[in-house]
Amino acid sequence: MSLLIKNGRIITAAKDYIADVFIDKEKITLIDTALNSTADRIIDAKNKYVIPGGVDVHTHLDMPLGEITSSDDFETGTRAAAFGGTTTIIDYATQTRETSMRAALDSWFKKAEGKAVIDYGFHIIITHLQSENSDEIGEMIKEGVTSFKLFMAYPNSLMVDDEIILKVMRRSAEFGGLVCIHAEDGLAIEKIVKKTLTEGKTIPIYHALTRPTTAERDAVVRAIELSQRANTPVYIVHVSSNDALEQIAIARGSGIKVFAETCPQYLFLSLDDMNVPGFDGAKFVLTPPLREKWNQEKLWDGLRKDTLQIVSTDHCPFNYKHQKEIGLNDFTKIPNGGPGIENRIHLIYQGGVNEGRISLNRWVKITSTAPAKMFGLFPRKGTIAVGSDADIIIWDPEKEHVISAKTHHMNVDYSLYEGMMIKGDADIVISRGDVIVEDGKFYGKPGRGNYLKRGTYV
Ligand code: URP
Ligand code: ZN
Ligand code: ZN
Repeated sequence: MSLLIKNGRIITAAKDYIADVFIDKEKITLIDTALNSTADRIIDAKNKYVIPGGVDVHTHLDMPLGEITSSDDFETGTRAAAFGGTTTIIDYATQTRETSMRAALDSWFKKAEGKAVIDYGFHIIITHLQSENSDEIGEMIKEGVTSFKLFMAYPNSLMVDDEIILKVMRRSAEFGGLVCIHAEDGLAIEKIVKKTLTEGKTIPIYHALTRPTTAERDAVVRAIELSQRANTPVYIVHVSSNDALEQIAIARGSGIKVFAETCPQYLFLSLDDMNVPGFDGAKFVLTPPLREKWNQEKLWDGLRKDTLQIVSTDHCPFNYKHQKEIGLNDFTKIPNGGPGIENRIHLIYQGGVNEGRISLNRWVKITSTAPAKMFGLFPRKGTIAVGSDADIIIWDPEKEHVISAKTHHMNVDYSLYEGMMIKGDADIVISRGDVIVEDGKFYGKPGRGNYLKRGTYV
C-alpha cells in the first residue's frame, strides 16, 4: 500500500514548509514539492498541517490497583490515543513487591498483545531491588526497556528509599538507561494525611491539601542530588508546581542534566476544580495533585523556556461510578489518576498555539519529537523525514470540537475537560502507513500495534 499526501504544510520541531510526502508501506520514502508519483491513495492536505504522530511517554493502561484496574486496557486506551493523534505510547509496567522486573514486563507484554492499535514501548516501575534482580536492569535495557520509574511517594506500596534510587541510577547508567522519578516526599505527606484524617477531614479536596508543593519541591531537590552522586541524568515525571519547576530551572541553569515533563491537567486544571459540592472533586484526585491556578502560567513558561521538555498525559483513568466511589468516605481510598490520552495534542494546541503561548514547532516538539528523542525512539518516531515510520497526523486548524465524555473514546465515564472547546482537530491519523482514523471513524485493528524496542538515552 502506498500513500501520497499532497500540498500539506509540514511542521516538524524545526521546520515549517509546504511539500508532498510519499509513503511506501510503513515508511516515509520521499518528501518533495510537486511529487507526481502514482500511489494507491492520494490525500489532498491543502490548508492542513502535516505533523508527526504524537508520542505519549507516560500512560498506565490496564494497571492493577488493589482490587481494581485502570479502566482503559490496551485496546480502548490506544484506540482513544489514536483519535487524539497519538501514534506511540510508552506504558509503565509495574513490578509488584513479590515479583521480578521480568515478570512485570512479561505481564505487560500479555496485556498489550493482540490489543494495541498503535505502537508501544514500556518503562518499568521498580518497587524493590534484590541482589539477584539488580542485574535485571541490564537485561531490561537490552530488551529495549531503557527507562525505569522510581517512586519517592506512596510509603508501604511503591515508595523506594534513597539507597535503592542510588543503586538503580548507578546500574542503569552503566547501560545508558534513564531513571524517571515520581518526586513527592512520601513520608512528609504521610504525616499530614494521618493528622488530617484524625481531624475528620475526609472529602476529596484533602487529597490535594495534604500533598503540598513543598513536598514536591523537596523530592525534586533530593532526586537531582542523587542523580549527581550517581553521575547520571534524571527525568522528573509529571511536574505540577512552580516550587518544583524552580528547582529544575536552577539545576539546569548550572549545567545539570535534569529533564522533566508536565501534563495537561497541571496546565488547565487547578484546586478550584476540586472545590465542588459532594464527591465530584474525586474526578480530579491525581498525584501529584492539582495546584493553585497561578502555577499553570509558570508551567507554560517552563515549556516555553525548555525547563520542561515534554508534555505527557499520565493517563490513568478510573470510572467515577464504582471506582472513584471506593473513596466516598475517605479521600485516601480514592484511586489516584485521571483520563487524558485522547486530549493531549488538542489541549496543547488550544492552550499553546491558539492562545499564543508556544509556536507550532514547539507544539510538535513537546508532544512528539522531544519524547521520541528522550526515550530512544528518534528518528523512527517523532518526525517527518525520509526513513521515519509513517506516523502522521493531517491536522485541520479550523475544525472545532467540544471535549465531552459523551463523545470521547476513552473507556471512562467522565472527562476532566468536559465542555472545553478546541479549535483544531485531526482529520486523518496514519500509523505506519495505515489510515487508522479518518473523519471521526476508526479503521485500525486491535493487535496491529508493534512493540518498540527502544534505544538508550545516550
Ligand atoms: O495519580 C496518578 N498520577 N496515578 C498514576 C501513578 C503515577 O504516580 O503516575
Ligand atoms: Zn507518578
Ligand atoms: Zn503515572
